[in-house]
Amino acid sequence: MDFELTEEQRMFQETARQFAGKEIAPIAEKVDELAEFPRETIRKLGELGFMGVAVPQDYGGAGADSVCYALALEEVSRACASHGVIMSVNNSLYCDPLVKFGTQEQKRRLLVPVASGKHMGCFCLSEPNAGSDAANQETTARREEDCYVLNGSKNFITNGSEADYAIVFATVNKDLKHRGICAFVVERGTPGFAVAHLEKKLGIRGSSCAQLTFENCRVPAENLLAKEGEGFRIALATLDGGRIGIAAQAVGIARAALEASLDYAKQRVQFGKPIAANQAIQFMLADMAMEIDAARLLTLNAALLKDRGLRHTKESSMAKLYASEVAMRAGIKGVQIFGGYGYMMDYPAQRFMRDAKITEIYEGTSEVQRMVIANALLS
Ligand code: CAA
Repeated sequence: MDFELTEEQRMFQETARQFAGKEIAPIAEKVDELAEFPRETIRKLGELGFMGVAVPQDYGGAGADSVCYALALEEVSRACASHGVIMSVNNSLYCDPLVKFGTQEQKRRLLVPVASGKHMGCFCLSEPNAGSDAANQETTARREEDCYVLNGSKNFITNGSEADYAIVFATVNKDLKHRGICAFVVERGTPGFAVAHLEKKLGIRGSSCAQLTFENCRVPAENLLAKEGEGFRIALATLDGGRIGIAAQAVGIARAALEASLDYAKQRVQFGKPIAANQAIQFMLADMAMEIDAARLLTLNAALLKDRGLRHTKESSMAKLYASEVAMRAGIKGVQIFGGYGYMMDYPAQRFMRDAKITEIYEGTSEVQRMVIANALLS
């Protein structure tokens, strides 16, 4: 087994590390405090090719692989998890299904603007009554001549208020259950498509999380991805890739918690010596470091399988499940190591803990990941 990164993978990692350190880390606290969408740095990430990392160059992307994507996303998320999720949704949940399921014409029209970073994409699967039970779609699509008429609402949509293009799942016939679900690309500005509400969040506060509504929204039939009834398969296959992104984001958050804890433990003196001299602190640091390495290996393994065109459903869920739980544990330990200062908003430890929590929830809760892994083992 080869653990050596290629020249290109090292370059992506290094470019992301430098950009994130110079441009993203300095604004992370402000982005969090003001819950401010970081448009300027996201625009620059686009210029670097990071908003369409694994999209072929012909379609506006950087033409790299999923390992490059995971490495870059870890670096960006280490600096700021809000930037991480914005990048992840654009790459994994919007661009990837267009690469896989779009026609040449759809790719030219609907992928190029987003993969090149000039515009933004989002993914509209969750609904008030379709969270973990994603097949229970209540948004309807009715065919009328050369278009589909969409009615319904979507919630918790990352990038929802910023996106110019949305992949929207809707059913043409609820009696068909998941086999009635279709995937459409809806362009911002289409009459009947509106941002109804913006959520206030515990973490990743710089990213946007919106409720979107569709009222007699007429979507051209040429914006249907694949065929009628294939939407649920598209959604789950897309999440197989998306979960690699969230795993990488979680590794980045966990690393941020560890690195801040290391610095602090070396300089904070109590009982006449740095707290890092105590085994109680050392053991926490050791566990954090070991778990982060294990989470990264699971993440890169899933990315490698994806790059090889192999089924990676189980491996993506394992990576996402483990990395998100590692991030949460690292976040909590970080606050503990910072002691009273860890609880204060002036220090970053609390942000890592708050940002980590969502990685155990979105793109499938930890419970859903365990279902997916068990299903794969038992099938
Ligand atoms: N790839 C392709 N097809 C798949 C698949 C996969 N990974 N997994 C299952 N399928 C197919 C099955 O083969 C089956 O097809 P047929 O019946 O035609 O043969 C079909 O999908 C249904 O499969 P299941 O019966 O297993 O589906 P289910 O309804 O029991 O659901 C589930 C399974 C794992 C719980 C799934 O609903 C799930 O992953 N839920 C969580 C949803 C989720 O992650 N939501 C996150 C929203 S996006 C988000 O958070 C983004 C953001 O903004 C950050």
